[in-house]
Amino acid sequence: MNKRTRIYEGKAKILYEGPEPNTVVVHFKDDATAFNAEKKAVIDGKGVLNQRISEFLFNKINDMGLPTHFIRSLNMREQLVRAVEIIPLEVVVRNVAAGSLSKRLGIEEGTALPRSIIELYYKNDKLGDPMVTEEHVTAFGWATPQEMDDIVHMTVRINDFLSGLFLGIGIRLVDFKLEFGRFYENDMMRVVLADEISPDNCRLWDIATKDKLDKDRFRRDMGGLVEAYQEVARRLGIIQANEQLPRARPKLVKND
Ligand code: TMP
Repeated sequence: MNKRTRIYEGKAKILYEGPEPNTVVVHFKDDATAFNAEKKAVIDGKGVLNQRISEFLFNKINDMGLPTHFIRSLNMREQLVRAVEIIPLEVVVRNVAAGSLSKRLGIEEGTALPRSIIELYYKNDKLGDPMVTEEHVTAFGWATPQEMDDIVHMTVRINDFLSGLFLGIGIRLVDFKLEFGRFYENDMMRVVLADEISPDNCRLWDIATKDKLDKDRFRRDMGGLVEAYQEVARRLGIIQANEQLPRARPKLVKND
């Protein structure tokens, strides 16, 4: 196998140079982190599940006519995406109070919000991803007002679509995080959805039992993370009821 050029390694993914110009290979790791990587673990099978779930959701979003970085999956753990310049924002959408919103404003987890709320965080690990307003974003030039319009417009459509999709399989989309990038094509630049959408960056609650089917199982030491992600994949029809995805990471076999 050819040695690939690693562009960047993040907490849950590795980026390699893609086989064609302006493409990148995204490798989904089994690593789980929380609280800005203060808490870490390797959870066998998580990367494969996130890749499969994200592939499914990005295909649906592409089908809606919204531009994304996703081109195609290459294997269970890797996808080919367009090379984009990541806009340094975490765009969080909330439909139900949970997590940091509940803590900050003293609203009980599970309280339905009067309307969906979009929050912006400046993507900067050193600063712990502080919350910012659109004023900061445009004043500091992280994104232009036109780009923010595109981001908000796409985010609202994605929330409507995903909320309905999950409702149909008995899951409440409590909140989630999106990232966007700039995609350059000839002399044109447009904002596209980037990163991933998976139970790592969504809160998904079973409507009937209120069970958590997302990364809060890791953040809150509840266990059963892979089983929960598998349940999401099953309900989305990505894996069959009795299908077992490979849990172990490929091991390097040494012949000597
Ligand atoms: P929060 O309640 O901790 O602010 O999280 C809101 C949503 O954003 C939740 O679905 C998890 C997701 N999220 C990320 O994807 N990455 C992060 O670094 C954080 C803090 C939250």
